[in-house]
Amino acid sequence: MTRASLDKQPQEVASMFDDVAAHYDLTNDVLSLGQARLWRKEVARAVDARPAQKILDLAAGTATSSQPFARAGAYVVPCDFSLGMLQVGKARHPWMPFTAGDAMRLPFRDDTFDAVTISFGLRNVQDTSAALAELYRVTKPGGRVVICEFSQPTWAPFRSVYTEYLMRALPPVARAVSSNPDAYVYLAESIRAWPDQPALAGLLQKAGWGRVAWRDLTGGIVALHRGFKAA
Ligand SMILES: C[S@@+](CC[C@H](N)C(=O)[O-])C[C@H]1O[C@@H](n2cnc3c(N)ncnc32)[C@H](O)[C@@H]1O
Repeated sequence: MTRASLDKQPQEVASMFDDVAAHYDLTNDVLSLGQARLWRKEVARAVDARPAQKILDLAAGTATSSQPFARAGAYVVPCDFSLGMLQVGKARHPWMPFTAGDAMRLPFRDDTFDAVTISFGLRNVQDTSAALAELYRVTKPGGRVVICEFSQPTWAPFRSVYTEYLMRALPPVARAVSSNPDAYVYLAESIRAWPDQPALAGLLQKAGWGRVAWRDLTGGIVALHRGFKAA
């Protein structure tokens, strides 16, 4: 079983997700206590996909995160570098154009998508800034990005309880429900090491994105960041 370390070697990360692919969505629902569904609804609202728009769902995994855009009538491309996750997704949604690709070198032309989005994926990419620049490159002028990622609870007392929950509860619960509990030790560690809301907004701006803003969900356990490419 593979567990990535915090230097996020691409092969380790991809093979860790290959290992959890079969039970990924169920484990997500259990460990997030059902919140994952609510977060996905908010992502869909923020992306606001319209019929015939081209949407890139980067780090799409099994493409659960891609479904709301497809339901809105958009043309969604789920892209990921874990072939295990892509295979599980393809078996469930055979009509979708699953694409193997690395966030740091996207296999798409410049100015292709009306909107690009990444849910719970950016934290796992080795070079965050390279991924944000690649997302910018493949977005049409005037297009938008929405990033959904674990973040920092804003209320200090809750933040300490949450850190305790992550540190202590996640690995034992994961042992009971996951095929690769070590992957959830990595999850806890990588969330703790991830930039907070203003720091991630700064990285977006550095990559060229304009009108950057964010919104906290579930008290800041998750944050949605958005930005626009100049028209
Ligand atoms: C936690 S899953 C999220 C899947 C999906 N977006 C969702 O919300 O359920 C993270 C995904 O990011 C993918 N990933 C991590 N680093 C990547 C990279 N550099 N390029 C492409 N995909 C990557 C993993 O393979 C994995 O499928």
